[in-house]
Amino acid sequence: MEMERIYEIASDAASRLRALAGGSISIGLVLGSGLGEYAERLAGKKTLSYQDIPGFPVSSVKGHNGQFVIGNLGEKKVVVMQGRFHFYEGYDREMLLLGVRSMKLLGVEYLLLTNAAGGVNLSYEPGTLMSICDHINFAGVNPLIGKNDDRFGVRFPDQGNVYDRELRKELMDLSEKMGIPLREGVYMMMSGPSFETPAEIRMARTLGADAVGMSTVPEAIAANHCGIKTLGISLITNMAAGVTDQKLTHEEVSLIAKQSSERFERLVDAIVTEVF
Ligand code: HPA
Repeated sequence: MEMERIYEIASDAASRLRALAGGSISIGLVLGSGLGEYAERLAGKKTLSYQDIPGFPVSSVKGHNGQFVIGNLGEKKVVVMQGRFHFYEGYDREMLLLGVRSMKLLGVEYLLLTNAAGGVNLSYEPGTLMSICDHINFAGVNPLIGKNDDRFGVRFPDQGNVYDRELRKELMDLSEKMGIPLREGVYMMMSGPSFETPAEIRMARTLGADAVGMSTVPEAIAANHCGIKTLGISLITNMAAGVTDQKLTHEEVSLIAKQSSERFERLVDAIVTEVF
């Protein structure tokens, strides 16, 4: 798809959201598998379904509703993507830029990306919350391939601080203060949709990954490109392949995510109200 068309779709989405919100919004959240319920916490909730935005992809994964939700958390106005787009759904890679770019045009300056992930680090058991300190893009694709849109950022963006160092520090201090255990780690993205093999997970561990998943990295690349300060939180829902002989299923991932939602929600509340 043409660069110009992506811009048009994103600006259309942003103006619809701005009309709905009665102004700009500076905080964005992307909710991962099993974590979508967080949006229910917002006051004065309004929604915009992806299918009502011409040209916008529609999320096809169970547990991903496919809509923007706007609302308030305390004093703060927030825009949430409830449901995201994944490479494995078969979208053209530049479609993965749309959500973040729509948020950018809406005024978003701070973004929290969340996901359910497999624990590669052997001490990261199901239920562990991990602040993403860096990523390894192992999906084989970069969403910025294609003509660069200079309105968003430079052709060759630096990626030394994709998950903002200062915000991460504040987040670690805050989680400690709240008594919510939070680890830091490297997230490796695989394209999916098949889960990894045990050999792939051993490779991931050797290469320095702590968690593995099928999302987040395209959005983080897009956000970094356009200068949005970003944090990432992985909820470890399972030990990655080969660590135990338990079979991996999407249902299990969603179930464990739901069971850990109380801690996750408290932490996200604190990020929105105190870090952003
Ligand atoms: N692998 C990839 N993606 C995932 C996993 C996993 O083990 N768990 C949750 N999302």
